Amino acid sequence: MNARPIELHDVESILQIQSASPEVAQWTAWDYNRVARGEMAGWAVEEDGELCGFLVARRVANDIEILNFAVRPEARRCGFGETLLRRALQWGAELHAEKALLEVRASNFAALQFYEHRGFQVVGRRPRYYVSPAEDALLLCAEMR
Ligand SMILES: CC(C)(COP(=O)(O)OP(=O)(O)OC[C@H]1O[C@@H](n2cnc3c(N)ncnc32)[C@H](O)[C@@H]1OP(=O)(O)O)[C@@H](O)C(=O)NCCC(=O)NCCS
Repeated sequence: MNARPIELHDVESILQIQSASPEVAQWTAWDYNRVARGEMAGWAVEEDGELCGFLVARRVANDIEILNFAVRPEARRCGFGETLLRRALQWGAELHAEKALLEVRASNFAALQFYEHRGFQVVGRRPRYYVSPAEDALLLCAEMR
């Protein structure tokens, strides 16, 4: 299982996975077209020709930030998330990033378990950061070195 860069033809499948994942930011096709054009970093994983998940990240000063990340609900807990996160961290290491950062809804138990098992720690809380529904964000961080 390998992650590869997001391409323009992936955008429709990404939007379907995103629609089935209310935990993540609901971006538009325009946002993912920017990713496919290389304006942000992004990877996809597929199996038997079907897109199973995607991750979008950006560089912020000496760190990397994971901006959006989801796996198709039926394909979860099969290792696709791990493959995508590993690819993003490899990219961060190539950039000599110091930390990987992300925000997650405080109630997103699955994501918190996923990240905490992979070396991320909660380093902050942003009260009522999310809307629809309103909820705190937890700020997670992993040291890259
Ligand atoms: C978070 C997410 C991307 C993980 O993807 P995944 O493909 O399921 O992850 P993997 O199969 O590589 O890893 C699964 C591991 O994550 C943790 N995990 C994932 N879902 C879990 C759940 N529902 N309950 C407990 N632990 C869970 C466990 O450690 C699990 O390992 P295990 O199956 O051996 O117990 C996926 O759950 C998802 O798309 N969630 C909705 C969107 C989201 O929350 N994105 C992150 C926002 S920052």
